[in-house]
Amino acid sequence: LYGPQRPNAKGLNLMINSQLEPLLQAMQPWNQHQWQGGPLLAAAINAAPGPTQAVTSPFDRQQQVGQIQWTSPEQVPQALDAAVLAFPRWNAVAVTERAACLRRLADLLEMHFAELMALCAREAGKQLKDGIAEIREAVDFCRYYADQAEQKMGQPTLLPGPTGESNELYLTGKGVFVAISPWNFPVAIFLGQISAAVAAGNAVLAKPAEQTSLAAHRCIELMHEAGVPRDVLQLLPGSGKELGPLLTSDPRVVGVVFTGSTGTAQQINLGLAQRESGPLATLVAETGGQNAMLVDSTALPEQVVADVLESSFASAGQRCSALRVLFLQDDIADKVEELLAGAMQELKLGDPRELATDVGPVIDAQARGKLQAHVEHYRQLGRVLAETKVPAAWSQGDFVAPVAIRLDSIDELTSEHFGPVLHIVRYASTDVMQVVESINRSGFGLTFGIQSRNEGFAADIDKRIRVGNVYINRNMIGAVVGVQPFGGMGLSGTGPKAGGPHYLLRFVTERTRTINT
Ligand code: NAD
Ligand code: ALA
Repeated sequence: LYGPQRPNAKGLNLMINSQLEPLLQAMQPWNQHQWQGGPLLAAAINAAPGPTQAVTSPFDRQQQVGQIQWTSPEQVPQALDAAVLAFPRWNAVAVTERAACLRRLADLLEMHFAELMALCAREAGKQLKDGIAEIREAVDFCRYYADQAEQKMGQPTLLPGPTGESNELYLTGKGVFVAISPWNFPVAIFLGQISAAVAAGNAVLAKPAEQTSLAAHRCIELMHEAGVPRDVLQLLPGSGKELGPLLTSDPRVVGVVFTGSTGTAQQINLGLAQRESGPLATLVAETGGQNAMLVDSTALPEQVVADVLESSFASAGQRCSALRVLFLQDDIADKVEELLAGAMQELKLGDPRELATDVGPVIDAQARGKLQAHVEHYRQLGRVLAETKVPAAWSQGDFVAPVAIRLDSIDELTSEHFGPVLHIVRYASTDVMQVVESINRSGFGLTFGIQSRNEGFAADIDKRIRVGNVYINRNMIGAVVGVQPFGGMGLSGTGPKAGGPHYLLRFVTERTRTINT
């Protein structure tokens, strides 16, 4: 019940030339391609769309990826009208047919693997290994939620009928959902949200992140090709600040599934609460983290360094799961810091499509500016412990050098720093419970790492920490669908966990039917 009923999508071993070369060759034609995207709305909509904008690569702003046309505010109410009409029809379609659409989409994603890899690299700056993981995860979400929908919605649950009545409990779609997604998983999270909502029988209006609207456009084209009707699933690329409130404040919307920053989730939550009419809405929000790793003196320094590099700097630190604050017990701190500083000198920044690249760009100039200002603040205080260099050749891209900063306490951080910035706090063994309290006090609760060969210690810390996903003696990123259901608590999200057996249940309503026989 809790594991995948079928194997997850296959990966590639990029260390083996016979696997790497065909991928690079298949991506080749897409390296020059110009994608064109825009709103994908129900046929009946006649309001004019918004302006068109050029899309460029985060690793080289001189390189154009394509063009995206924004959705106009006038199109939003018409799209909602169409979704309201589409919902009952889609909800009446057999769940096996809805699930079949998702399985066809999974196959289409695998068929268009090279194109999507190139698009993820060029639009979002995704490295090869991240692109592979991204598309595999999207494929896994589609097949997992297809299975879940059939298991949970296929047959009603028969309940006792002591008085001779027949009673059954069944699950059905809720209505019109708005799906709002971030740029850091432009295929996986984008499609994960939508596939669950659609499998459950809902109509969906998808508002992707501004920065990755072309990937979203391609995914929705494939979803329509897989059989999900155009009025059931509509794409509304555009400004979150402009379109978001128009969508989420509309009384016809029954629920919002959101992944992004905690601040935006709070705004959406407030907006839903202030609606004067419409249903009491469902909000599924997966948000940010202030993720920590605790290292005690029994840990293996070499393993700690390898896991810290992966957790903090893979994907340029742009994962909600990424390690932000490393707590090192005094006895092991010098050794780990020395090894880490050495390893950071070896990290190579560059074109995400090259295998030798360890760290790609951050998403845009605004993100780069915010991260650089944070690092500069600590540089002035003399607290930068180690830093990688950005080669001059990459000055046209939005690169931020991986950096390690000394802190006295996690309390110094008042917000998430979403990039390759690691903070290090040393602690005395006698203070370990205060450290755990300080992490819990942050209010976030997404991921947490423990590095220790003392099993009792690890088990005790695991019990006390309040986060969604704990990783012991390994890195803290890359949760696998159906294997490590992913999601946090507190400021990090409402749950239920994506890729877990309870996720779909937030998209359905329960009904009972009683027949006097
Ligand atoms: P963001 O909150 O800036 O934007 C997310 C989405 O919300 C975008 O589509 C944006 O256009 C939209 N939006 C912005 N303002 C809105 C409004 N007022 N109403 C409705 N929608 C609005 O986040 P981001 O920068 O795109 O993504 C990075 C954040 O996402 C980080 O905080 C990261 O931790 C978080 N994240 C969390 C998870 C998770 O599973 N917990 C996964 C990935 C990313
Ligand atoms: N699910 C993603 C991870 O685990 C965010 O890294």
